[in-house]
Amino acid sequence: MSNKDQFVFSDTLSVTDNRTAQQYQLPITDGTVRAMDFRQMKVDVDDFGLMTYDPAFTNTACCRSAITFIDGERGILRYRGYPIEQLAETTSFLEVAYLLQVGELPTPDQLKVWTDDIRYHTYVHTKVLKFLEGFLYDAHPMGMLLGAVGALSTFYPDAKDIQNPANRYLQRVRLMAKIPTLAAFAFRHVRGLPFVFPDNDLDYIGNFVNMTFSIGGKHEPNPILQRALQILLILHADHEQNCSTSAVRSVGSSHVDPFSAVSAGIAALYGPLHGGANEAVLTMLDVIGDKANIPSYIERVKQGEMRLMGFGHRVYKSYDPRAKLIKRVADDVFAETGLNPKLEIALELERIALEDDYFVSRKLYPNVDFYSGLIYQAMGYPTDYFTVLFAIGRMPGWLAQWEEMLLDKEQKISRPRQIYTGYPERPFVPLAQRG
Ligand code: CMC
Repeated sequence: MSNKDQFVFSDTLSVTDNRTAQQYQLPITDGTVRAMDFRQMKVDVDDFGLMTYDPAFTNTACCRSAITFIDGERGILRYRGYPIEQLAETTSFLEVAYLLQVGELPTPDQLKVWTDDIRYHTYVHTKVLKFLEGFLYDAHPMGMLLGAVGALSTFYPDAKDIQNPANRYLQRVRLMAKIPTLAAFAFRHVRGLPFVFPDNDLDYIGNFVNMTFSIGGKHEPNPILQRALQILLILHADHEQNCSTSAVRSVGSSHVDPFSAVSAGIAALYGPLHGGANEAVLTMLDVIGDKANIPSYIERVKQGEMRLMGFGHRVYKSYDPRAKLIKRVADDVFAETGLNPKLEIALELERIALEDDYFVSRKLYPNVDFYSGLIYQAMGYPTDYFTVLFAIGRMPGWLAQWEEMLLDKEQKISRPRQIYTGYPERPFVPLAQRG
């Protein structure tokens, strides 16, 4: 007799609570069971009910989302159903940003309105320049960016009106428009260079590059490098429920304004295990210094002394599709700028790691951050600026996810549970008696 003959199959999970011998049938929808369905499982009426425990959310879906699809086993990434490879090859960053917000690719007219709206809002209040000037000469640009984006909430108190769709659109346009300006100002500040204001005759990427590199007039654009930057921003535009996006959703779930919510995302991205990894990769390549030192470095990684930065991913258990595309972009960029000797170290590091059982058995492959830093460096951006470029790229994803979270009727203020491991109740000891 086959299994099929013995059981009636249905989309449910049968659970027996062995503490009480009670049986439960939990519905399975979209390959998930609801954590709240476990709360009915109690040992007595006073029991709180069973909780699920998932530190770092490694197996918990926190939302339904129609924005980005990832198949980590097969290395697939799609925005709104479109394969990342096709978007990176043919679209502009603002087209992709529109796609992420609206769910459809824009018509030429829709793209013009979106582009014009963003262009109209590229300037920041002159008071912003004043507080940026207050940062130390060697302030980290990510620290400056997250402070400046958070501070924008004080300039736009209307942004608190998050229930109004037209208002939400305006704030999203403002954030898209102003992040390149703030990022460029942070770049200029640490160099002691005067701020270059937006030139609205230029497109989104051209304007940003001009605001960062222009000295005494317009920067001479290099179309190959600008196209490379455009592709990199597209590749970073969204990545479903990553650490920074979860931060934006979680903070945004308190119904704070989007400037504050996005600054939380920038803070999360800053960390070396997330967006800060692109900076850490370059530092690592500097430490390795020479191809001859790679085997001993890998040995130290395997001993657990440090991680191989730019390797591994929570979701991808195969080659990160973005890293594949970035490798191709690197070829175009280095053909233009000349070879970065660190690329050779990176390529050799990748070759050795991908043959080593430690990395193979753990399915650790290069991620988006492994090669992107080398390209940014070839473009003339310093190491501590790489994560700022990532933040510009991720802005449309944060905004689309913020909007989706607000419109999702099932969402409430984000508030995880805990397992308390501290003392039970104990009597207070007055100061004089403590010793
Ligand atoms: N180098 C060496 N070992 C690693 C690495 C690494 N980069 N990543 C994971 N491992 C090992 C880890 O030690 C563990 O081994 P064991 O099972 O023996 O304890 C195993 O692989 C699984 O690691 P994990 O920590 O459970 O994996 P995770 O999903 O929690 O971490 C990660 C994902 C991206 C934080 C991690 O791979 C990492 O720290 N990578 C380096 C930092 C990096 O490149 N981050 C950028 C991520 S992609 C872009 C972005 O998010 O911004």
